[in-house]
Amino acid sequence: MIEKGVEIAPAEGKLGILLVGLGAVSTTFVAGVEAIKRGLAQPVGSLTQMGTIRLGKRTENRSPKIKDFVPLADLNDIVFGAWDIFTDNAFDAAMKAGVLEKDLLNQVSEQLAGLKPMAAVFEQNYVKRLHGENVKAGKNKMELAEQVIDDISRFRSENNCDRLVMVWAASTEIFLEESEVHGSIEAFEKALYDSHPAIAPSMIYAYAAIRSGIPFANGAPNLTADIPALTKLAEEKKVPICGKDFKTGQTLMKTILAPGLKSRMLGLDGWYSTNILGNRDGEVLDDPENFKTKEESKLSVLEHILQPDSHPELYGNFSHVVRINYYPPRGDNKEGWDNIDIFGWLGYKMQIKIDFLCRDSILAAPLVLDLALFMDLAQRAKMRGVQEWLSFYFKAPQTAPGLYPEHDIFIQLKKLKNTLRHMRGEELITHLGLEYYD
Ligand SMILES: NC(=O)c1ccc[n+]([C@@H]2O[C@H](COP(=O)([O-])OP(=O)(O)OC[C@H]3O[C@@H](n4cnc5c(N)ncnc54)[C@H](O)[C@@H]3O)[C@@H](O)[C@H]2O)c1
Repeated sequence: MIEKGVEIAPAEGKLGILLVGLGAVSTTFVAGVEAIKRGLAQPVGSLTQMGTIRLGKRTENRSPKIKDFVPLADLNDIVFGAWDIFTDNAFDAAMKAGVLEKDLLNQVSEQLAGLKPMAAVFEQNYVKRLHGENVKAGKNKMELAEQVIDDISRFRSENNCDRLVMVWAASTEIFLEESEVHGSIEAFEKALYDSHPAIAPSMIYAYAAIRSGIPFANGAPNLTADIPALTKLAEEKKVPICGKDFKTGQTLMKTILAPGLKSRMLGLDGWYSTNILGNRDGEVLDDPENFKTKEESKLSVLEHILQPDSHPELYGNFSHVVRINYYPPRGDNKEGWDNIDIFGWLGYKMQIKIDFLCRDSILAAPLVLDLALFMDLAQRAKMRGVQEWLSFYFKAPQTAPGLYPEHDIFIQLKKLKNTLRHMRGEELITHLGLEYYD
């Protein structure tokens, strides 16, 4: 836990952001930061760069920018590192991903071309559709973890970094359930030596990050650090961790709309969501074992927002279906359709249709930036273990054992901002407001 108004170490020196996976999301993020630094574009979608925070009473008119309220790393002090199973540098990878225009990429080509991925920890069994050549070899999984730890320390010294954070933006791994080998640090480390199949590559990176004392955020739905062994290790090593699965297109819409329907006590018969997506993520998710991990993450949100147990007459029996179809012509420009069957007064039925023509990586890139900056802040504020206040960014937020996650995006935002107020010793905002009428 954190004390009220704790001392936060200043954001001095360089912050290294280590990206696992140098695909569409990572390259859109890196190119975007470089473009923003040069004044070529605005950091739209980033709370740390554009958001404000109200302090005190409404009559006080105090709403500083978040980045002026808490000490965040400056964009000019960031350096990037990455691992990928392909050898393409960030410029070539961004060109292949096809998210950003060539013109923009050409203007930051030097910075992008200088970002070359380190060899990855990878096993095809966990991502069925990919075959890469830039992969580490080792006699067991512990040896691979040691190699990642060496990469981290080499990167830190070569780039003169004061602090580091790691963000998983690599492909979604197959569905894994928590098992005995994840139950304690000892069991986990033994399983690393035994190269146990329940230890996925993402867990090896997370373990290496935590052991190196650097915060770890998981942008995909893989189990990864959401296991007792790694949450305990994070507590022990005083490292903040968070996840899972960036909340971007369709699920973002769902967690905006569902709290609204529930706030008016409108009932739900069913919510059918389907997507067409043509990027590499779509290709990976076309495999049923990889899709299952994503499906679990996407399905969980409605139950928690609507609370069917408390409102059986409204939400006791709704059908929730989520599909992703790999359709190459669309590339990263996903289209998500939702058909929502709702009912109102006296049970009269209505329908809502959403057709969201979104851009997956454009929505995800600012989340990578915010998470990296907030995780670095959390570490300087001596926060450790699971950072539930960052649920705002995730489809399947990591929480303490036995605690259900908060999915309502408005509650998540309040929680995030109140955490920042708490860190700075400012009064929390309850929105009671009776004092204005005294
Ligand atoms: N874009 C979004 O809106 C969004 C939202 C939520 C989650 N995500 C997740 O973020 C991740 C990245 O998405 P993307 O669109 O950039 O995908 P992508 O396929 O373009 O990039 C992923 C990269 O990870 C690499 N990779 C795979 N396994 C690796 C490993 N073990 N080590 C290092 N590199 C590895 C791949 O080679 C690839 O270059 C995916 O898991 C995706 O599901 C994306």
